[in-house]
Amino acid sequence: MRAGRSGAFPGDLVQRIKDASGIVDIVGQFVTLKQAGQNLKGLCPFHAEKTPSFTVNPGKQVFHCFGCGAGGDVIEFLERHEKLSFPDAVRHLAERAGIRLPTSEAREDSETQKLIALHEAARSFFSASLSSPLGLGAREYLAGRGVPVEMQVSFGVGFAPPAWDALIGHLRGKGFSADWLVKGGLAVPRNSGQGVYDRFRNRIIFPIVDASGRTIAFGGRSMDDSPPKYLNSPETAIYKKGDHLYGLYQAREAIRRRGAALLVEGYFDVIGAHAAGFDHAVATLGTALTTRQVGQLRRMAPDVVFVYDGDAAGLRAMRSSAGLLLESGAAVNVAVLPEGEDPDSFLQKEGPDAFGKAVGSSIRLADFVLESLIQEKRGSSAWIVEQMFSIWDQIANPIERGERIRRAAERLDIREEWIIEAWHASRQKPGGPGRPSAISPPGGPSAHGEAGQGSVRGGSKMPVRVEPLFLQILLMRPDLIPTARDRVSPDLWEDAALRAAYSGLLEGGGHDASDPAVGRLLVVDLPGTPEQVEAAFQDCIRVFVRRRQRIAQRRLYGEIRKAESSGDPEALKTSLREHMKVSKETCP
Ligand code: UTP
Ligand code: MN
Repeated sequence: MRAGRSGAFPGDLVQRIKDASGIVDIVGQFVTLKQAGQNLKGLCPFHAEKTPSFTVNPGKQVFHCFGCGAGGDVIEFLERHEKLSFPDAVRHLAERAGIRLPTSEAREDSETQKLIALHEAARSFFSASLSSPLGLGAREYLAGRGVPVEMQVSFGVGFAPPAWDALIGHLRGKGFSADWLVKGGLAVPRNSGQGVYDRFRNRIIFPIVDASGRTIAFGGRSMDDSPPKYLNSPETAIYKKGDHLYGLYQAREAIRRRGAALLVEGYFDVIGAHAAGFDHAVATLGTALTTRQVGQLRRMAPDVVFVYDGDAAGLRAMRSSAGLLLESGAAVNVAVLPEGEDPDSFLQKEGPDAFGKAVGSSIRLADFVLESLIQEKRGSSAWIVEQMFSIWDQIANPIERGERIRRAAERLDIREEWIIEAWHASRQKPGGPGRPSAISPPGGPSAHGEAGQGSVRGGSKMPVRVEPLFLQILLMRPDLIPTARDRVSPDLWEDAALRAAYSGLLEGGGHDASDPAVGRLLVVDLPGTPEQVEAAFQDCIRVFVRRRQRIAQRRLYGEIRKAESSGDPEALKTSLREHMKVSKETCP
């Protein structure tokens, strides 16, 4: 389980509840599992597949899907499968296991409930205002922008009248004090310190709802382009910006059914897409995508399609969000619209068929970046390949990663082996590109050490990486951790995620089974006798020691050069002696 996720629950309560809830029993309610070695396997409930790659490890109480990268503990399974919040998943398990939960949470909930009641009341008011005579101009604006009335209804679009106290007056009549309106971000205290005024005035109102459809915030667009174009609720006790996606509630069934979400940028883009039949569109509300949002999407579907306008800002926004998605194991596609067009404007101008074509011809993010680099004609094939390393590194799914590399080899007309070698070499350089991650499919660590050649895919050899293997051995054989601690410092690790997992193990902490990089190692059966595993362990240590030597040698080489050029014989002797010592150092 992720550190710090016990949330509102005291001490080790969450762990106790987990211990009392066998993952096989819980998962078994939803997935037919068959024994396979020490694990159980079944068809993944999180993506469509015909052969089982969904794996449950009862010993470690974790699950992992090799197809889509989903993984975690029993709580994460329920969060994802049943769309429960963390506290709800814990409550569910506690109830099932007959463990009583403390009631302090009930008190906390009452503030949440009141804020939600406040927002629901405000939403009704805005919606009634849109239908009232006051809302004529707003109705005309929406009609002018082609928002059908059904969409206005299903997204709860409303109108905030121009007065300074329209909402305040209405809600006071419903028993909400000015304090509560301020707490909910709907009213703003006057500078004079006396009284409050409505935050949203003379604006089209878009309610922002949580996963269960409860209104928790609003966005308001000015109708005459007076700034700011959009005014949004501030963060409150019930609204954290990075936790929600606009339209997710309306899109959730479609996303699940289609196995994909369409990621756009704005309120009108979401509504316009839904109106045109692209009912799987959601938006990030003017902020960069967060891991929480990625988590929500990944729980519903394996694919995400970015639809972005072809200008530089759009590209940047997309690239900064894409890394998170790739690392989550999602398949990330990109659909490009003509420069200056967003989905809404494109749909208005060109219609649903053209938009459908643009979405249909979306390509994988990595392929898209590759194509842009080729179009830019800024460098050789070798240069292009080097630019791609950091993107391929972010792809958590090893099969997908291999596929992208194969495509690049084809497209650039160079050998795939050459790309892999170049990638490998780039990692040996300090400051080499990107954050490296495991390149070998987790099922096949057969050779050990970086020079070794591992499992064969599509006829080409993929190097087996030492870091995942070493971690896997330690996860299976905690008795080897003390030796690892003595011999292999975390500084020697290149992969940040795996290094963090390794440090966690050394410190006696847990590991994050929901991290795809770790999760897939957790459930893999490491073949071999205890002796073979120990031999592999020693092989890994040798690789790390060589790494340390290389680093020391490089440093000493620099010192020798310096001593030579400054003519300092003592320093030169010391450096040379140390250099020899390091080079002679052998492994057990
Ligand atoms: P855009 O400026 O692209 O607006 O902002 P838009 O969605 O195309 O809106 P229209 O079509 O001009 O009416 C994209 C999103 O960024 C957020 C909003 O969520 C908006 O939908 N945003 C933008 C703000 O929060 N505040 C702003 O001032 C501007
Ligand atoms: Mn727009």
